[in-house]
Amino acid sequence: NTNYETLLFEVENEIGVITVNRPKALNALSEQVHSELNALLKEFKNLNKDYSIAKGLILTGAEDKAFIAGADIKGMTTMTAEQAESFARLGQENTLLFESLNVPVIACVNGYALGGGCEMAMSCDFIYGTKTAVFGQPEVKLGLIPGFGGTQRLSKLVGRNRAKEITYSGRNVGVEEAKEIGLVVAIFETKDEMLESAKTYLSKMMRNSPHAILEAKRVMNEGNDLTISEGLNVEAKAFGAIFNSDDMKEGTKAFVEKRKPVFTGK
Ligand code: CAA
Repeated sequence: NTNYETLLFEVENEIGVITVNRPKALNALSEQVHSELNALLKEFKNLNKDYSIAKGLILTGAEDKAFIAGADIKGMTTMTAEQAESFARLGQENTLLFESLNVPVIACVNGYALGGGCEMAMSCDFIYGTKTAVFGQPEVKLGLIPGFGGTQRLSKLVGRNRAKEITYSGRNVGVEEAKEIGLVVAIFETKDEMLESAKTYLSKMMRNSPHAILEAKRVMNEGNDLTISEGLNVEAKAFGAIFNSDDMKEGTKAFVEKRKPVFTGK
């Protein structure tokens, strides 16, 4: 089903592009956007077990001015505390869905990635930005706090003290600074150039073993919540289990036989 009002989903050369498409509100995350994103991500997860839809995903925003300018502020003005908690949980579920997909996801940030926008970008595997990209968690300016994972993920990405300074001030973080602090991995002149690079990069990356990438993603994300010894235990188990995979057998055999491996993702 690609029949969404607030999202566009296209697949080309095995790379899927999810575009949040609410330009009149700078792609702000309303309940409808989150519900549609939830449906899309669940369907993708179910149907892509054998990589029949895509081997990589990109999350971006329609037009040049904004990636996502945050949660929808107008919608929040009438929410009760219970409704707001459910809204946060729905947004958080979507961040966890991105982290649980079997393909790498790159956030391609054009313009504003504020509040919920920064939070959605942080749940992707990594972030690209155009030279006009702007990040921030400005919720305290509205009497709010981040609700789609920003109080947790920003600290893990840039360190707790820097994350506090950014969150308490609500200030904008320009793309150069975002790269310096590890939030953004690469900066591009234009949105088109960024999207092309992301597509090329994902296609190249997925010539490596898709199964191994999935396992690396799973273990790295799980390790985020664990102590070093628990994390190393998860790693050792996964390292052992991967020896039963076709991709591991093919990859190591191909090296010894001095030929290119043909991975199946199994
Ligand atoms: N929610 C709803 N509508 C929004 C929006 C948002 N987060 N951000 C922008 N819009 C709307 C504006 O209301 C405006 O609509 P109208 O034309 O109908 O008035 C339209 O998008 C264009 O925006 P501006 O005229 O404000 O554009 P600008 O270029 O002057 O400013 C901006 C751009 C600096 C990004 C400014 O729009 C802004 O500050 N937006 C809000 C950013 C923000 O605070 N985000 C955090 C939200 S809270 C949150 O995300 C909570 C959470 O973690 C769960």
